[in-house]
Amino acid sequence: MPVIAVINRKGGSGKSTMATHLAAWLAHQGVAVMLGDVDRQQSTRAWLKRRDPALPAIMPWAIDQKNVLKVPPGVTHVVLDTPGGIHGFELAKVVMSADAVIMPVCHSMFDRESAAACHAELIALPRLASGRCRLGIVGMRIDARTRAGQAIQEWAQALGVPFLGVLRETQLYVKSLENGQTIFDLSGSSNSADLLQWAPILDWLRPIAKLAPSPQPTVPAPNPDELILARTLSPHERYTGPQFLLRH
Ligand SMILES: Nc1ncnc2c1ncn2[C@@H]1O[C@H](COP(=O)(O)OP(=O)(O)OP(=O)(O)O)[C@@H](O)[C@H]1O
Ligand SMILES: [Mg+2]
Repeated sequence: MPVIAVINRKGGSGKSTMATHLAAWLAHQGVAVMLGDVDRQQSTRAWLKRRDPALPAIMPWAIDQKNVLKVPPGVTHVVLDTPGGIHGFELAKVVMSADAVIMPVCHSMFDRESAAACHAELIALPRLASGRCRLGIVGMRIDARTRAGQAIQEWAQALGVPFLGVLRETQLYVKSLENGQTIFDLSGSSNSADLLQWAPILDWLRPIAKLAPSPQPTVPAPNPDELILARTLSPHERYTGPQFLLRH
């Protein structure tokens, strides 16, 4: 069963935002997904309680008395949200069952330093070291007017970790989460620029999640400048690659 863990020991780096979105995306793919909340704050559990039952279902986390993840019957995919500061045994326990770790990283020296320390601990764990668990970095809350996305991409490349793309800073994330929703649950075109930014991240995840490749043409290479450029698209335009914007 594919297990995707969202990990970064830096608090406030966007882990719960990433985890809720991944769970919602999987639910929209028609799979039976469980959102596990290893975080004592139980942020994603609180979010799930706000979720409209009419939306694609996400099962809540279940723990037994030994605090071990208990997967309900029928669940085929698991997304795990984790707390800031996670390290040592707690980190190893989460990674032991993970097939992918996504690390959301905000743009500041403090964020990168903390993420680098977390990365060093992660790659020493047998499951990552052996390649049984893949690791990818996503630039989080990126201001399109700055070179922040580029800086995170260069930093990820220097670490030798796949850079999956960036997500822009927008209240759309904050507002949709407050309503128990995600960008993937919104109708209309308010989310089109954000869906484009998700495309390379989800393309990376599809084989790990045992899902068929995307039927839509998506961005071939996650160049943050190009992804940020894409946010200016109108609903009548489609981004098909680094150089091409199609109108339809
Ligand atoms: N792309 C975004 N645009 C705007 N706000 C965002 C974005 N991503 C996350 N946020 C906001 O940033 C804050 C921190 O995000 P989040 O709670 O997901 O981080 P976290 O890593 O789970 O934090 P913690 O370590 O405390 O668990 C939240 O208020 C969230 O709404
Ligand atoms: Mg959180």
